[in-house]
This record gives sequence, C-alpha cells and structure tokens, in this order.
Amino acid sequence: MSLLRVQQVEHGYRSGGLLGRGKWLQVLEGIDVQFEAGQTTGLLGSSGSGKSTLARLLLGLERPSQGQVSFAGRDVSRLRGEAARDFQRAVQLVFQDAPSAFNPQRSIGWSIAEPLRHLSAISQTAQRQRVLQLLEQLGLSAEHAERLPQQLSGGQLQRANIARALAISPQLVVLDEALSNLDRVLQVQLLQRLEQLRRDTGTAFVLISHDLSLVRYFCQRVMVLADGRIVEDRSVDQELSFQHSAGQQLQAAMLPSRPERARSEFDLA
Ligand SMILES: Nc1ncnc2c1ncn2[C@@H]1O[C@H](COP(=O)(O)OP(=O)(O)OP(=O)(O)O)[C@@H](O)[C@H]1O
Ligand SMILES: [Mg+2]
Repeated sequence: MSLLRVQQVEHGYRSGGLLGRGKWLQVLEGIDVQFEAGQTTGLLGSSGSGKSTLARLLLGLERPSQGQVSFAGRDVSRLRGEAARDFQRAVQLVFQDAPSAFNPQRSIGWSIAEPLRHLSAISQTAQRQRVLQLLEQLGLSAEHAERLPQQLSGGQLQRANIARALAISPQLVVLDEALSNLDRVLQVQLLQRLEQLRRDTGTAFVLISHDLSLVRYFCQRVMVLADGRIVEDRSVDQELSFQHSAGQQLQAAMLPSRPERARSEFDLA
C-alpha cells in the first residue's frame, strides 16, 4: 500500500533579486513516485541534485510549484489541525545536523520525548519508558537521557536524533544524510537496528545518501536523482547495474575492495 504519493511534482527557487525578480532555479521536474509501507528506499544523487528539496516536499514543509504530494489521498502541504497531526505521527524527518535539532538547555530525554508530548496522550511514566526503550534500541543508555546535548559525542547525538524521530512510531522515516558523519562501524550497527525495527513494526525508511554501499546494504529499492529527475528507480539486487550515467558514476565512485596481494609478498624469507 502506498504511504506517500508524489504526482507530477515540479519545484524550484527564485534566488536573490529585489522584489522577487531573481533568477528562477528549477530543481525538480516530472517527479512521479510512490513510497510504500514497510519499504526501504535509497535516494542517491550528487550534491545539489535536489534530494533535500524532495525530502522537504515529502514532509509538506514546502509546497511544490506544480503537482502534489499526498498522504492518504490528501495534499500534505495543505493539512491542518488533526489531519496535520496524523501526518506528523506518520512521517518523520531526520537531518544530518543533529546539534541544531536539540534545545541546548534541555536534557536528551526531554527532547526525545517531545513528539510524545505533542502528538500522543500517553502518561509521563509511559513517555519515560518509551525514551529508555528507544535509547536502548539505538545503543545508548538510560544515563544519556539525563545529559545535555553538548555532553554527548556527535555519533551519540545523531542516534538520539533518530530516537526522537522514532518516538511516535511513525510509518515512514526520511533520513537525510542522517548517518553521514558517523563512522562505518556505527553506520552499519545503526542500519542493522533500523532493519530490525522495520521487520518488527513495518516502519518504512527513505535513506538519502551519497553512499551507494550503504544504500545497497540497507535498501530494497534505490532511486537516483539527476538533472531534476528520477533517472533510476529499481530494486536492489546482487546485480545492481544502473542505466543512466549519474547512476553509473555513483557505481564507479565505489572503492573497489583492496586487491589480494601476492602471497609471496608476505612470506618470510
Ligand atoms: N531555499 C532555497 N532557496 C534557493 N535555492 C535553494 C534552496 N534550497 C535549495 N536550493 C538549491 O536547490 C538545489 C538543490 O538543493 P538540495 O539541498 O535539495 O540538494 P541536495 O541533493 O540535498 O544536495 P546535498 O547532497 O549537497 O545535500 C541546489 O542548487 C540548492 O542551491
Ligand atoms: Mg541535502
């Protein structure tokens, strides 16, 4: 079943210029795509190709210049009141910049519980239990809940950021470069935890990344954005091979595994 439906979307920005007379920059055009419940989708593309713009449109944070993004048949940029709250419960976004997402004067636990306070009716005790469960799920501990954001490492803060997005048990989470500043071991651990969550609860993910190997590892489906369009949209399988030059470039940019050195090099004389 489709969770989010993007129909004939175009979007762009007018840059600078007095009285809005700046130059029009077309970022996206002819975007027609659906995101399914329980599915993991990788969204790849070079810097400036429009990935974050598409993420903001998916979340209804901006209204497309043309076309629409719909959730349960309704335009997400026009939702108000309870319908808007239903949508916030269903779809969450995590940005790369974790520090700016936290209130520096409030504890990590307080911030993770924020969506629960605003979007659910559960008791304070249940909120606290949920926070502890999320911290554990993401490899953090109860002790981290008491700390201020500046008392966590970058990787710990990013995990807390993901925990907050998961707090309300959304149906779809968009991770916009949300793993990019973590080391490889942590990236893989986190993706394993998110995959477990997907299996247990059917949460869908959109993983926005520059890193084809992460997408291959985590996603069932991969899309590539180039020249404002989705130029590849295919399932991820062993033989993943792209047709479009933008996809082929991403593939070429993957470092080959280190060639086996001749055994004799290591042999002791
Ligand atoms: N609010 C804005 N006003 C004007 N131009 C914008 C705005 N937001 C994005 N752009 C432009 O739109 C294009 C797409 O930007 P976007 O942030 O979506 O790219 P991206 O694929 O997420 O890149 P990156 O991989 O570097 O994060 C860029 O040329 C950017 O400069
Ligand atoms: Mg971006």
